[in-house]
Amino acid sequence: MKITVVGTGYVGLVSGTCFADSGNDVICVDIDNGKVDKMRAGEVPIYEPGLNRVFDRSIREKRLTFTTNLEDAFKDAEVIFLCLPTPPGADGQADLSFVLGVADELGDLFEKYGEYKVVVNKSTVPVGTADKVREKIASKTDVEFDVVSNPEFLREGAAVEDFMKPERVVIGTRSERAAEIMNTLYEPFVRSGNPIIVMDERSSELTKYAANSMLATKITFMNEIANVCEKVGANVDNVRRGIGTDSRIGKRFLFAGIGYGGSCFPKDVQAIHHTSAGYGYDFKILGSVMKVNESQKTSIIPKMNDHFEGDLSGKTVGIWGLSFKPETDDVREAPALYIADALADKGVKMKVYDPEAMETFRVAASEKALKNIEFMEDRDSVLEDIDALIICTEWNEFRRPSLENFAKLMKNPIIFDGRNLYDLNRAKEAGLTYYSVGRPSVI
Ligand SMILES: NC(=O)c1ccc[n+]([C@@H]2O[C@H](COP(=O)([O-])OP(=O)(O)OC[C@H]3O[C@@H](n4cnc5c(N)ncnc54)[C@H](O)[C@@H]3O)[C@@H](O)[C@H]2O)c1
Repeated sequence: MKITVVGTGYVGLVSGTCFADSGNDVICVDIDNGKVDKMRAGEVPIYEPGLNRVFDRSIREKRLTFTTNLEDAFKDAEVIFLCLPTPPGADGQADLSFVLGVADELGDLFEKYGEYKVVVNKSTVPVGTADKVREKIASKTDVEFDVVSNPEFLREGAAVEDFMKPERVVIGTRSERAAEIMNTLYEPFVRSGNPIIVMDERSSELTKYAANSMLATKITFMNEIANVCEKVGANVDNVRRGIGTDSRIGKRFLFAGIGYGGSCFPKDVQAIHHTSAGYGYDFKILGSVMKVNESQKTSIIPKMNDHFEGDLSGKTVGIWGLSFKPETDDVREAPALYIADALADKGVKMKVYDPEAMETFRVAASEKALKNIEFMEDRDSVLEDIDALIICTEWNEFRRPSLENFAKLMKNPIIFDGRNLYDLNRAKEAGLTYYSVGRPSVI
């Protein structure tokens, strides 16, 4: 099939590359000239495990090309995927200007070329967006076309694997013609029997928000259990094991920490909360999820304050991990950004390291934070001459250092672990002062 992907970020580039790998001809369009130049030169502009290999293969076999010109990409396409940003607007509602802007251009192109095509919305968009895209295009042309909702469930850090073997594919359309085309396109990805679920557009759009807000709620619930554990002297690891074995609850997404971040959960929870309010419904549980997560991101700061008896000014703190989760360079809404700001406000200097996210963090961090930050070459150089270490991301290389190394390299081995990486007994044996989330402190 001939496919066009508009927007080559985490979703667009992974989708385009994987569709090309399954034998389709794919043209990716982006307005970012620099990005398109890089991709034409064979360079993957984001860090995503396994993407390089599939990308190289698709380019070599001439099934994946790049352009900045929407018209060139439109002409021969049978299916056009919109993988455009939908960032939160000022009032929390998803900003649809990227999606509707492209829909407007597509209207003119449909009129000019006069051929049936399917326009697929892969961006996460509020309920009713498929109708808006349809109206936008139809305001420019009478040519026949379909607009389909096809939310994407890939996880950054495992995006290629998730795209190649999705647990389910959701397709929102009431057009049989479009449903058949979408089924044909996705069949190679669900050979092992996972379902392609076809439904109406609105249910499909809401499914994506329901999935992300359910997951954000699960994480937040566990973070609140962790906060209660700290008050009552329980250990959240034990509680997690105790409830995770219940198949109704399940083992995944039960790890306590310093809150969720990333480009999806925060904005999607906010957007569905906002959409519900627009329809006169107060989605109370999501209001609480947002509030709890906000304070959880910087919950390490009061712990540090207590430890240093309110005197953080002039201290130097190390930070391991800047991305919002491991295996990605994405720092959008990462707790490390919030912690860096809070520490800068208190006059704390920071030495930071992340295996992949140093550059993205440098771009995203506030000016006041950057003034207090020194970017370090590697994990261990962070540890020299610091008063305490904060762990923000559970990268593998932070999971298993020799704990004795902390005592050797730090003048006082004090660790505030936002991801519960180490065993409490081992931390004690290694002579660490060790604070984690929802577990007894080792002092
Ligand atoms: N990142 C994820 O893990 C993930 C997962 C599922 C769904 N989503 C959703 O998918 C959508 C895209 O997310 P993303 O993380 O890939 O975004 P992104 O910001 O990484 O990428 C968006 C791309 O679109 C390009 N772009 C902007 N305007 C354009 C235009 N007019 N024409 C062509 N290109 C244009 C940008 O230059 C950028 O390269 C969002 O709605 C997001 O919520 C993201």
